[in-house]
Amino acid sequence: MENFTFYSPTEFVFGRDTQARTGELVARFGGRRVMIVSGGGSAERSGLLAQVRAALTESGIFFIEQKGIAPNPTDDRVYEGIRMARENNIDFLLAVGGGSVIDSTKAVALGVNYEGDFWDFYCGKATPASVLPLGVVLTIPAAGSEGSGNSVITKLDGKHKISVRYPMCLRPRFAVMNPELTMSLPWFQTACGITDMLCHIYERYFSNTTGTDLTDSIAEAIMRDVMENALILKETPDDYDARAAVMWASTLAHNGLCGCGKVEDWSSHALEHEISAWHNVAHGAGLAVMVPAWMSFVAEKNPRKVVQFAVNVMGIAPEGKTEQEICRLGIEALKGFYHTLGLTTSLRELTGCEPDIDLLVRSLQGNKGETLGSYVPLSMNDCKEIYQRSLIN
Ligand code: NZQ
Ligand code: ZN
Repeated sequence: MENFTFYSPTEFVFGRDTQARTGELVARFGGRRVMIVSGGGSAERSGLLAQVRAALTESGIFFIEQKGIAPNPTDDRVYEGIRMARENNIDFLLAVGGGSVIDSTKAVALGVNYEGDFWDFYCGKATPASVLPLGVVLTIPAAGSEGSGNSVITKLDGKHKISVRYPMCLRPRFAVMNPELTMSLPWFQTACGITDMLCHIYERYFSNTTGTDLTDSIAEAIMRDVMENALILKETPDDYDARAAVMWASTLAHNGLCGCGKVEDWSSHALEHEISAWHNVAHGAGLAVMVPAWMSFVAEKNPRKVVQFAVNVMGIAPEGKTEQEICRLGIEALKGFYHTLGLTTSLRELTGCEPDIDLLVRSLQGNKGETLGSYVPLSMNDCKEIYQRSLIN
C-alpha cells in the first residue's frame, strides 16, 4: 500500500427535503452575498430554484444568479461568472445542478481572487492560493464533483477539455443531496451518471499497487451495489431507496475513498474527454464506449485485475477457464450491462459519424503527453488502437 492523505471535509446533507436547509448552510459557512449558478432549466422547471431562493431569502442572504451552464462547460461562461462575482462582491458560490454546473462554479471560485487568467490553473501555470468557498445542491448523481476537488472545463479555442485536481481547496463546503430531486432525470442521463460513477471506481481499482484489499473490497461492494440498483431503476425509476443508493455511491466513488493507498490510472477518462470535447456527447455515454475497449486492450497485457473484476463484480465463475477467457466473459458482461441501460458501446454509433481518430490522438497527446495511465502505461499508438477497437465494439 502507498502512503496517502484522505481529506474529505464536505458536509453531506442527505435525504428528503434537505434543499430547505440551503440558506442555513450557506450562512453557517460564512456566505452573505451569494451567486447561484444553475444549468439549462431543469432546476427552474422542477421548482428547485424557487425553493433555494426562498431558503436564502429566509436566512437574509443577498443573491444574484448565473444561469444556463451547459453540459461539458466552457471557459466563456467561467469568464462571465468571474466578472459577475467581482462586480457584486460575492463571497460564496452556490451550484444548483450536476457536474457541469459544479465544475463551472469551481472554476469561478478559482478565478475570482486571482489577478491572472483562471485558465492558468488548468494549464499548469499557477496553483490556487485564495479560492472562494462554494456549496452544492446536487440534481444528478454522476460526476462526483459534489465531493471531489476536481473541475473539468473545456477551452473553446482548441477544444482543450482539461481536468484539474485541487483536493485541499476546491472541495465544496457542503453538498445537499436529496434523491427525490433526481427523479425528474431523463433515463439517458441516469444511465450516463451510473456509467460515470462506476468508471471513477475503475480508474482507482485497476492498479498494480498490492496490499490494498480493504480499499478493493469497498470498491467492489460499491460497484456491485450500483449495478444492482441501476437495474432496479431501469424498471422503477421512482424507487427512492435505489435513487438514494446510487446518489450516495456517486459521491463515494469519487471523493477519494476508493483510491486510498493506490496508484490510480485515469486512462479511460483521458481517452473519453477527447470524445466529449470534440463531439459534445455526454461524458458517461463516452465512457460506456471507451471502458470496454480500454479493458479489452489492457486485459491482453496485464489480466490480473481484470480477472478479479470479472469474478468479484461481474459474477463470472472462474472454474475451468483460462485468465483470458475470464477477462473476455467479464468484458462481455460489462458491455451487456451498458446495453441493458440503453447505452451504445460503439464510438461510431455514439458520434453518428466516422470519428477522426488521428485528430483525437493528436489532441490527447497535446493535453496529456506521450504516455497515459499506469495499470498498463499506454503509448499514443496504444491509444490509437483503443479508439479503433471502440469504433465497432
Ligand atoms: O442543464 P439542465 O437543464 O439542468 O439539464 C441537465 C443536463 O442537460 C440535466 N439534469 C441535471 N439534473 C437534472 C437534469 N434533468 C432533469 N432533472 C434533473 N434533476 O442533465 C444533463 C447533464 O448534466 P451535467 O451536469 O452535464 O451532468 P454530469 O453531472 O454528468 O456532469 C458532466 C460533466 O462533469 C465532468 C464531465 O466531463 C462533464 O463535463 N466531470 C467532472 C468531474 C469532477 N468534477 O470531479 C469528474 C468526472 O469524471 C467528469 O469528467
Ligand atoms: Zn467521470
